[in-house]
Amino acid sequence: MRVLVTGAGGTLGSEVVAHLTALGWSVRAHDRTPPQEAAPGPAAAAETACGELLDPGHARTVVSGMDAVVHAAALPSPGAGTEQEVFSNNVMAAYQVLGAAGRAGVPRIVYVSSLSALGMAWSVQDRSPTEIPVTEAHPCLAEDVYGLSKRLGELIAETVSRRWGSTVVSLRFPFLGSGDRLRAHLRHVQADPGRDRGALWSWLDTRDAARGIAAALTRPLTGHHLINLVAPDTTATRPTRELLARYHPSAPLDHAPDGFGTPYATGPATRLLGFTTIHGWRQGAARQEETSS
Ligand SMILES: NC(=O)c1ccc[n+]([C@@H]2O[C@H](COP(=O)([O-])OP(=O)(O)OC[C@H]3O[C@@H](n4cnc5c(N)ncnc54)[C@H](O)[C@@H]3O)[C@@H](O)[C@H]2O)c1
Repeated sequence: MRVLVTGAGGTLGSEVVAHLTALGWSVRAHDRTPPQEAAPGPAAAAETACGELLDPGHARTVVSGMDAVVHAAALPSPGAGTEQEVFSNNVMAAYQVLGAAGRAGVPRIVYVSSLSALGMAWSVQDRSPTEIPVTEAHPCLAEDVYGLSKRLGELIAETVSRRWGSTVVSLRFPFLGSGDRLRAHLRHVQADPGRDRGALWSWLDTRDAARGIAAALTRPLTGHHLINLVAPDTTATRPTRELLARYHPSAPLDHAPDGFGTPYATGPATRLLGFTTIHGWRQGAARQEETSS
């Protein structure tokens, strides 16, 4: 089975290429410039390709002959470019790639979205969830260009499924990291949990994100599905209820999770994708504490 992975030179894309290749997929690894052949993902890919996805002719060429497409290419934060660049790059690349894939009859597409599509993560105002657990149906509160671009990407994904009949899975990811990137994020959040109030202390190991994408490519589904894909716990060392009460006093806590549980709903990920994580950070942190005491 042949799969195109866009954004293959990036943090998530390179992990996805490595994982899908290890599972036996024949991967076309695509990025704007040639994905680093030395990196583990692109090095394993059956084929590398490069070019500008905003170019409709190029998008048509890269999706051709594929059984599936994973669209991960984007500017991944509001500060990754000017507002114009983030909006036009993310929205138009999604439109070109997903549209070309649908039109070409590619039966399965995964759109890499973000929990930022809800609008809390990058909000400059102190926005709070209106329901806990935060489900996929939570209203969009976006006022930032990145969150808006990811929400529009989800609407493009849904439209492509309706128009062309492809099965399209939009996955809403939290902060993604493993190794040094994850450790730096944990230090940053744990030093002051208020820094991550907008993201609700959510996270996912990049390797589990790649596993979730593989599940979204293969589970028996039809139509369009929007699914939160997050770790079952937070990045924080304080209980979730305590953090919510302090940083989101207007949020309803009746159904808030116990302990360090994530405030995001994980039911659809389990039910539709059979997804559970295998990588956690708490055991490693506990071991480190034991050895240093
Ligand atoms: N990193 C995170 O914590 C995180 C969290 C949630 C969602 N996401 C989503 O995951 C995806 C990947 O993020 P990442 O962190 O790996 O980003 P990244 O910047 O590391 O990689 C993205 C890649 O996409 C390529 N790209 C962007 N626009 C392109 C275009 N028009 N044509 C061709 N290539 C293009 C870039 O060259 C880059 O290599 C994005 O869609 C992002 O919104 C990331």
